[in-house]
Amino acid sequence: MGNHSLTLLLLILSIATTISAHNITEILSSNPDYSQYNNFLSQTKLADEINSRQTITVLVLNNAAFSSITSSHPLSVVKKILSLLILLDYFDNTKLHQLTNGTTLSTTLFQTTGNAVNNIGSVNITDLKGGKVGFGSAAPGSKLDSSYSKSVKQIPYNISVLEITAPIIAPGILTAPPPSSSVNLTALIEKAGCKTFASLISSNGLIKTFQSTADKGLTIFAPNDEAFKAKGVPDLTKLSNAELVSLLQYHAAAKYLPIGSLKTTKDPISSLATNGAGKFDYTVTTAGDSVTLHTGVDSSRIADSILDSTPLAIYSVDSVLLPSELFATSPSPAPEPAGAPSPTPASAPSPADAPTPLPASPPAPAGESPDGAPADAPSTAAEKSTGKSAGVNVKATGVFTVAVTALSAFVVSFVFMS
Ligand SMILES: *[C@@H]1O[C@H](CO)[C@@H](O)[C@H](O)[C@H]1NC(C)=O
Ligand SMILES: *[C@@H]1O[C@H](CO)[C@@H](O)[C@H](O)[C@H]1NC(C)=O
Ligand SMILES: *[C@@H]1O[C@H](CO)[C@@H](O)[C@H](O)[C@H]1NC(C)=O
Ligand SMILES: *[C@@H]1O[C@H](CO)[C@@H](O)[C@H](O)[C@H]1NC(C)=O
Ligand SMILES: *[C@@H]1O[C@H](CO)[C@@H](O)[C@H](O)[C@H]1NC(C)=O
Repeated sequence: MGNHSLTLLLLILSIATTISAHNITEILSSNPDYSQYNNFLSQTKLADEINSRQTITVLVLNNAAFSSITSSHPLSVVKKILSLLILLDYFDNTKLHQLTNGTTLSTTLFQTTGNAVNNIGSVNITDLKGGKVGFGSAAPGSKLDSSYSKSVKQIPYNISVLEITAPIIAPGILTAPPPSSSVNLTALIEKAGCKTFASLISSNGLIKTFQSTADKGLTIFAPNDEAFKAKGVPDLTKLSNAELVSLLQYHAAAKYLPIGSLKTTKDPISSLATNGAGKFDYTVTTAGDSVTLHTGVDSSRIADSILDSTPLAIYSVDSVLLPSELFATSPSPAPEPAGAPSPTPASAPSPADAPTPLPASPPAPAGESPDGAPADAPSTAAEKSTGKSAGVNVKATGVFTVAVTALSAFVVSFVFMS
């Protein structure tokens, strides 16, 4: 049995280490020609998005070419322009010159942000005469007004960085969205199926805080209406007003966290309820495209992105987030003290379905891994957030369960083979 748990642990660790295989910030930092581009990839959090994807091509502009954009457009527009330069496919020098029929369209990160109609989220790559490769918007009637200048870096089939001469401008991309502070957040959240949450934040006046911080970096996790009806959700009318406000504040963070940043976040995230007296934070785990927040009491999957408009992000989530600072005394007692590692959590319910802490033992020797070990390892994040092994059990087990679920088929066959 011991061998099998160890095998399982090694498998999980090896997966954790390959999740974020590249670091675009580091790749670009060795070349000062791309310092501005690199700086804006970080500011817009697109660097996280790039690092969280397995196959990607980044078309970079040198400082001279890029400054024309940053000097005349707000951050939200710069982000759109950058998103259109991030191709969700792998192109290196060889591939650019071997395109079938000499031309192709590639989907970009811009396509994944929502309103990309008429191919404006795709890029046309065409092998022109004389070895020149042209880039342009795939939207009808666009010109190929940028071209390939040189290869910067390749990690084959994972990430390729190519320099091009000019930005790729799709129709309408330069139009700035309205400032976040002018968006009616209540209306937006209501429309996304979160009426209960919208009415709670309005009646408590919290909406004013949201509205006034929306331009300085804000992320809101709005539970949908079903979440408030779910079993295990505490009776909100039994909370004091201060507790209710803390609970609502717990559903927002004072920084901009687009999905790529959530996926690559390793440290616990502080919420608006975080203060001297309580942590009120949560950790994040990712399984494929699914992102889950763990409070220590329950877990909630991110259901939908309602708005991603730098520096404001709004998501709907499947469960009300229950901070351990308010709901730690749970009706289900922890059956076992920490210790005896066993792979049994595989049969535990998935964390998203469980409103109460998962009663189970910790994921074996994960706690023994050195501090420099992959920070994706569940124990590391959980330990940072609680500093106590008692808290680790709940959070780490949730992560463990997800990992085990994903791997179970493979692991089961592996165990039987050995
Ligand atoms: C990527 O590299 C930069 C610069 O070297 C570093 O500051 C950052 O922490 C790294 N990010 C990750 C996710 O490792
Ligand atoms: C290449 O061109 C031929 C002839 O026009 C066409 O039949 C084929 O579908 C094209 N292939 C691709 C990948 O576009
Ligand atoms: C890309 O643009 C060129 C020039 O406008 C056009 O001839 C070509 O058909 C386009 N490629 C694709 C795949 O649409
Ligand atoms: C590319 O990504 C795959 C999957 O994440 C990984 O196994 C492989 O080691 C990566 N290749 C390199 C050269 O980093
Ligand atoms: C925002 O929308 C809500 C709900 O639709 C509405 O009641 C409120 O008056 C609006 N606020 C502003 C400032 O327009």
